Amino acid sequence: MKKDLLFSDLGGQCAVPLANHTTFRIGGNARYFVIAADEKNLKAIIKRAVENHIAYFVIGAGSNLLVSDQGFAGIVIKLGNGFSQIKVVNNKIIGGAGVKLVDLVKTAFEHSLAGAEFLYGIPGTLGGAVKNNAGAFDHSISEIVELVQGFHIQNSKFEITDWQLKKDEVRFDYRTSQLPRDFIITQVVLKLVKDNNQAKIRAELERISQYRKQTQPWGASAGCIFKNPKGTSAGKLLDEVGLKGYTVGDAYVSKKHANFIINRGRARFNDVLELIQIMKLRVETKTGIILEEEIEIIPDSVEGGESNAEK
Ligand code: EPU
Repeated sequence: MKKDLLFSDLGGQCAVPLANHTTFRIGGNARYFVIAADEKNLKAIIKRAVENHIAYFVIGAGSNLLVSDQGFAGIVIKLGNGFSQIKVVNNKIIGGAGVKLVDLVKTAFEHSLAGAEFLYGIPGTLGGAVKNNAGAFDHSISEIVELVQGFHIQNSKFEITDWQLKKDEVRFDYRTSQLPRDFIITQVVLKLVKDNNQAKIRAELERISQYRKQTQPWGASAGCIFKNPKGTSAGKLLDEVGLKGYTVGDAYVSKKHANFIINRGRARFNDVLELIQIMKLRVETKTGIILEEEIEIIPDSVEGGESNAEK
């Protein structure tokens, strides 16, 4: 990795392979890449990007992303240690956007706080989970969110505005929120329920862990590719139309759960895109249901200019 001049004083590097920063292990180079140490550093990086008309993109764990082999022509910003702090105050958890969900769930358990168990096993970060209203087992993170803190920068004036949004203002929906594209999440306050029966929380975590092991595959993937259509499971539909094991290049539909695409080694962006099209077409032809992608596809979801997506 080479140093670049534009962001080097802020910790930036150039030509960094995004395949190393996504759980799919797919993706070309980011023109610029930087790990933002803390909020001050993050603001300075974004300000510099906006001033220089460079598109920016914030990633968390990269667990919900499919990145083009062409990479990203702007700056990719990953949240560093300053965003990994967790504080517990009574029945609330205040976590940085970069906190891993597994650490969040462990902290809740250690403090006998119930309500976050369903997040166990989701390989994302808190910021990304909130942005996309991640969930599992018929629960979504929006159920436990109290406040979302962050900022955005006005492109024309390069002015940074701090935000604090109450849950209702975020307008969550199934696997999505109405947070503006340029809103950067820095911290989230979650409200849980004190339950002194810690054994009950542990049992629920074990149940979830077992269920995931039994029903979901290991390997390089981005989790579920499609959202569930109302009243049914995308995985079930894809299974019923006979797509388990269907392969394009090194990408294949998991035999364990048909809503997962696995990269078995050297899958290319186009292999996965082709597979996604085949999956959608087969389900639509046989059932009339149009599946909608749950994953974020880069650069498609970055429409020029600035963007943020923290998963
Ligand atoms: N099923 C099949 N074949 C398959 C997959 C599922 O027949 O290949 C059936 C199952 O047997 C079950 C039903 O479909 O009867 C539902 O399956 P499952 O419990 O696995 O849940 P899902 O609806 O497929 C959702 C979430 C997952 C989450 C699980 C566990 C979405 C799109 N998916 O899957 O989330 O982990 O529930 O609660 O909401 C993700 O968001 O990336 C993700 C994987």
